Amino acid sequence: VSGTLVVVGSANADLVVEVARRPAAGETVLGGDTRVVPGGKGANTAVAAARSGGLVRFIGAVGQDAHGDVVLASLTEAGVDVSGVRRVARPTGVAYIAVTPDGENSIIVSPGANGDLLPADVRLDGARVVVASLEVPVPVVEHAVLAAGQAGVRAVVNLSPVAVLSPQVFALLDPLVVNEHEAAGLGNLLALGVRSAVVTRGALGADVITAEGTTTVPAPKVDVVDTTGAGDAFTGALAVELANGESLVDAVRVAVKVASLSVTLPGAQPTYPTQARTNRSASSRP
Ligand code: RIB
Ligand code: NA
Repeated sequence: VSGTLVVVGSANADLVVEVARRPAAGETVLGGDTRVVPGGKGANTAVAAARSGGLVRFIGAVGQDAHGDVVLASLTEAGVDVSGVRRVARPTGVAYIAVTPDGENSIIVSPGANGDLLPADVRLDGARVVVASLEVPVPVVEHAVLAAGQAGVRAVVNLSPVAVLSPQVFALLDPLVVNEHEAAGLGNLLALGVRSAVVTRGALGADVITAEGTTTVPAPKVDVVDTTGAGDAFTGALAVELANGESLVDAVRVAVKVASLSVTLPGAQPTYPTQARTNRSASSRP
């Protein structure tokens, strides 16, 4: 039943350091040892989707450097088709991530190679759902969504980081996915013209917003260690369920579980649960 999912987005090497607190301007704080973890919102989404049982092709750009190797190895190991990844003459994207004891993070992204991704890199053949996020140039995301519209492919956009898309592009999104901070800056999401919207709300779960109204899907209680990439895990799992023909609310139920499991361990991609683990956690709930 599984149709191919095409994920268009960034791939980064995440340089992660734990700190007691964030430095203020002009201040130096000492942290733990640096960990190099495969990341990037696009690659994270692709890996989460593949672990959730999806047939996934990733479209992205990385450099000809060791960071590019790290990112490609993680995608390949998860079973993602990387034939749509171009290696370019710029450094692979890097995310500098500080994680504080409450599990919250601050991130600086240097897009590097991600900035070289082109609309012409997007191939949708065989796709049932296309998912895009915004650490790549806006014209690439807009092209992917419009091409999906023409081909009758469902389009999902995780508008992270927030960007302005054309009204024709917003009108095709089913759903637009944002977190609560991003949602607050966007106002009434349905007024953007989207077909549906999903707002992730951390420990509170997620809201599914359609013309019929809002449905809140609660999250299981978990011990939060690191929320990095939880939104990407959510989007990847959501897209797989949609590609399998599940309703939006049912897809969000699964995605909330996957994102909740992902925050219980440090790092993004390496902590995304397999479909079997998600199902086990579901059945162990009262
Ligand atoms: O969403 C989390 C991701 O944002 C990290 O993996 C980092 O690469 C940044 O892009
Ligand atoms: Na994690």
